[in-house]
Amino acid sequence: MTDETATFTIENRIAWVKFNRPDKRNCMSPTLNRKMLEVLESLEFREDVGVIVLTGEGTAWSAGMDLKEYFRENEQKGLHATRKAQREAYSWWSRLRWFEKPTIAMVNGWCFGGAYGPLFACDLAFAAEDAQFGLSEINWGILPGGGASKVATELLSFRDAMYHAMMGENLTGKQAAEKGLVNEALPADQLKARVEEVAKVLLAKNATALRATKWAIRRVREMTYDNAEDYLIRAQEAANSFDGEGRKEATRQFIDEKSFKPGLGAYDISRA
Ligand code: ACO
Repeated sequence: MTDETATFTIENRIAWVKFNRPDKRNCMSPTLNRKMLEVLESLEFREDVGVIVLTGEGTAWSAGMDLKEYFRENEQKGLHATRKAQREAYSWWSRLRWFEKPTIAMVNGWCFGGAYGPLFACDLAFAAEDAQFGLSEINWGILPGGGASKVATELLSFRDAMYHAMMGENLTGKQAAEKGLVNEALPADQLKARVEEVAKVLLAKNATALRATKWAIRRVREMTYDNAEDYLIRAQEAANSFDGEGRKEATRQFIDEKSFKPGLGAYDISRA
């Protein structure tokens, strides 16, 4: 049987990738984790894809790790199976964190525990106001592992992260936006249109600069100011040698042609 646990469609250079186990609330089984890596790898260097959106089929974005297939069944097989399953999950989250193209989480519903890995891996995140976010690990007797504790402390204040992890209470999409877990929350029927609007803005920007920017924002979080300054010089110089024409064309359009203002929008990339 063809594995359909992760699927995608491409429309106008946006790849809509889906967790696709709606009857299991899109929880992440080893099969899904393997399939998701395969899907991401197949999309990363396609010319007809400029932005990836990760969303869920049905009522869930993802209900976290599959308690049966990821945890219990692997524990029964032994440590080797658990470690293999961990590697499979973490490898696609890591691939997504350092994806070559902009990535957007479109959180349509439930988002629990392990799902915070791919949530953080996406560069931007938009949620339905009535989506539910939870570190439910404490409710079934484990700590928030698989990066979830790290994600909470990266995105929330110390007090909020501690409360969120210890209490096992959910946040709505609206609360998640107020606390910084996602960029924005919208009524569910407006979510896709807003994500599409954001994706279109990204598609109109210089792709090399976007890639350098998203990696820079992730890297400098963990650097001293001096190291960040140095890294950013080198990252820009590397971007220049990879694709130096875009920046020169943009400068020409602003200074010579006066056809756009960088403070008010992007240059016309089609003319570079
Ligand atoms: N692991 C395994 N199976 C799951 C999971 C999961 N994480 N989440 C849902 N399912 C299964 C259910 O067992 C059920 O299966 P069945 O139809 O064979 O009985 C099916 O998905 C539907 O689930 P319901 O609970 O009936 O759906 P409902 O819409 O009422 O509730 C909710 C949704 C709140 C998401 C609930 O399923 C739930 O609490 N899931 C677990 C969430 C969670 O704590 N995940 C783990 C986080 S910790 C971590 O990821 C490390």
